[in-house]
Amino acid sequence: MRLPEPGTIEIAPSILSADFARLADEIALIESAGVSIVHLDVMDGHFVPNITIGPPVIAKLRKVSRLAFDAHLMISEPAKYAKAFVDAGADHITFHIEAADEPKKLIDRLHELGVTAGITLNPQTPVEAIEAVAPLCDMVLVMTVNPGFAAQEFMPEAAKKIARLREILGPEIRIEVDGGIGPETAPEVVSYGADTIVAGNAIFSKNDRIAAINAIRKAFK
Ligand code: DX5
Ligand code: ZN
Repeated sequence: MRLPEPGTIEIAPSILSADFARLADEIALIESAGVSIVHLDVMDGHFVPNITIGPPVIAKLRKVSRLAFDAHLMISEPAKYAKAFVDAGADHITFHIEAADEPKKLIDRLHELGVTAGITLNPQTPVEAIEAVAPLCDMVLVMTVNPGFAAQEFMPEAAKKIARLREILGPEIRIEVDGGIGPETAPEVVSYGADTIVAGNAIFSKNDRIAAINAIRKAFK
């Protein structure tokens, strides 16, 4: 399953906020809400002060889901572990510019491995840091929180980078936004040009996950 072609606005639920004891059910539920992407937050306790999931969990989830697996690598050595995530079933891999000495080489490597490639930047990192390599990617991710935890407050200043990136990249590359997104903040980021909306707490803090997804959709329509 590949990322949907640019031109549609997609919601990518982040399962970091889901019930880890029932992940297969949670993923089936969001699939029934018509989403085509699930956002997988990978943290190594080094690049960010938290530890989440790795290839073994993704490999198990791959067996129970057809959704596009969007792996967000918040790890210090993305090049070292890229193949392990591809082998586990990730369809798209995003790494942080702050963790990559040779970003172009890693983007080429991901394409060689047959997946789509993405790059992301922390709220403090300027767009200039990725300007040269972003056009080589299939999707660029703008962080609107400091990576490491769900349910943090949205950073409006960081969101403004989306408009600048849309100018640089044109319509053919997806722009994803991640951090503090819900019905209140989704209209703003979509108005800047984001087309892939990560949401964790806004979906999984609600008993009715499907209604929560539809509330976000309704907000930016
Ligand atoms: C944070 C992660 C996000 C987070 C989103 O480092 O990259 O994907 O889980 O969660 P919310 O939507 O609750 O901010
Ligand atoms: Zn994420």
